[in-house]
Amino acid sequence: MNKRIAVLLVVIAGIVMALTGAISARSNEAHDFSGQCETCHLTSPRKGGKNIFTMDIDTLCVECHEVAVINSHPTKMIPSMNVPGYYFLDWQGRVNCATCHDPHDKDVKTMLRSKARGRDFCETCHIGGILQGRHVAASGMAHTKNWTPPSSSSFGQILDRVSLECLVCHEGSVGPAADVRIGPRSAGQALSYAGPGFSHPIGIDYAKAAAYDRQLRALDDLSPLVSLYEGKVGCASCHNQFSHEGDMLVFSNRGSALCLECHIK
Ligand code: HEC
Ligand code: HEC
Ligand code: HEC
Ligand code: HEC
Ligand code: HEC
Ligand code: HEC
Ligand code: HEC
Repeated sequence: MNKRIAVLLVVIAGIVMALTGAISARSNEAHDFSGQCETCHLTSPRKGGKNIFTMDIDTLCVECHEVAVINSHPTKMIPSMNVPGYYFLDWQGRVNCATCHDPHDKDVKTMLRSKARGRDFCETCHIGGILQGRHVAASGMAHTKNWTPPSSSSFGQILDRVSLECLVCHEGSVGPAADVRIGPRSAGQALSYAGPGFSHPIGIDYAKAAAYDRQLRALDDLSPLVSLYEGKVGCASCHNQFSHEGDMLVFSNRGSALCLECHIK
């Protein structure tokens, strides 16, 4: 073999090894932490070992991720249930962001430590959760989302996916089919949800309604705690399963604050 080629091969092999080395040094595309190990790891990181961190883990994550800390899955508590071993608890045995997410996971989409999704994911810890009457797994989601786009899978459905989940149990109060109505101008069809003392249209495309109705606040001015799944007003616009307010409201309606979030009166 030509000496020059041999040298070249060695160099290439070296580069390849350096690269794969870097990859196995635990980074993924989204989380390329190369050279930044010390910002989080106080002690030299070890697989399967007791890792000690520079700060509270949530603080490390929230620095880059503005997830809603209220109305999302709680952290910092010691589980009452048996948590499967593939989840990570911090040195005090508490739930944290890295309990459910492996920041070094190659699956960059959600970095979840379990392959289960939706309610099945929730029930890896909350066994029989939905039966415990605490709304565990009511929506199958861990974090509040401000707005999500219309989805092709629910095209033609009046209600968003989360509201449909709520109605699995709370269906009694939805008006009969005759109650389907046309929203203001082109805001689409809507249903009315009628509680004991209160009824409200659901299924209306908020942005479209706000475009015609000047009594409604602009989409961009809404609180991030108010969710419009698939762009529509639904149960989760006013309620959240993680909320500690009365009636599980996304925030207190004292002085009609919740109503005035959308309605300018
Ligand atoms: C944003 C903070 C952060 C940065 C930056 C970071 N890590 Fe981590 N690392 C964590 C967290 C949180 C865990 C989860 C604890 C666990 O799984 O034991 C972890 C776990 C690990 C583990 C143990 C995984 C296992 O399966 O036991 C290794 C090894 C590791 N990190 C290596 C590194 C290396 C190498 C770097 C630098 C390239 C790095 N980390 C950068 C936060 C970080
Ligand atoms: C230095 C900034 C930084 C830190 C610290 C950080 N992340 Fe990220 N993370 C990112 C970026 C950038 C992405 C790419 C996707 C995006 O834009 O959100 C990402 C993606 C994610 C995703 C997938 C999100 C998606 O939209 O697909 C999850 C989950 C996640 N990070 C969790 C964590 C957790 C848990 C921690 C703490 C252990 C953490 N991150 C710390 C910057 C960071
Ligand atoms: C109980 C498990 C659990 C905990 C604890 C948790 N997450 Fe998540 N996270 C999820 C699940 C499940 C998803 C997938 C989307 C969803 O269900 O909302 C997700 C999605 C995300 C995403 C992607 C963006 C999105 O909203 O879809 C980011 C970023 C993220 N989590 C960051 C964090 C941070 C930061 C913390 C700590 C404050 C945290 N997570 C705590 C389960 C958890
Ligand atoms: C890693 C285990 C784990 C997973 C996975 C998990 N949870 Fe939890 N969850 C907990 C712990 C621990 C608590 C605190 C109560 C306890 O210890 O019983 C809790 C509490 C809750 C509460 C009560 C909140 C409150 O403030 O009172 C709700 C609601 C909840 N979880 C919903 C969910 C949903 C929805 C999912 C799926 C997206 C999920 N959980 C996934 C561990 C988990
Ligand atoms: C598995 C059945 C089930 C699902 C799914 C469900 N709920 Fe409930 N909900 C109940 C039961 C049972 C009660 C009464 C007992 C209680 O308060 O836990 C209740 C009570 C409530 C209350 C009154 C709580 C209070 O503080 O007085 C609200 C508000 C509510 N649900 C909203 C929702 C919303 C919004 C969803 C969808 C994200 C939802 N529910 C999904 C079963 C369910
Ligand atoms: C526009 C905001 C809004 C929407 C949308 C909404 N609610 Fe409510 N809901 C409220 C308010 C405010 C209360 C407080 C009770 C009252 O004032 O009568 C309440 C009360 C409740 C209660 C407790 C009262 C009772 O029946 O004992 C349940 C359960 C409930 N809502 C479920 C739902 C479900 C399920 C949906 C979706 C199909 C939904 N809500 C949509 C605002 C809303
Ligand atoms: C998430 C935003 C939002 C919140 C919060 C909200 N509304 Fe609405 N509301 C709407 C939209 C969108 C419509 C339909 C548009 C229209 O009719 O102009 C509507 C319509 C109404 C109507 C007309 C009903 C009908 O059948 O035509 C009343 C009354 C009403 N809301 C009262 C309330 C009250 C009371 C509250 C507080 C408990 C409240 N709304 C909270 C968005 C909201």
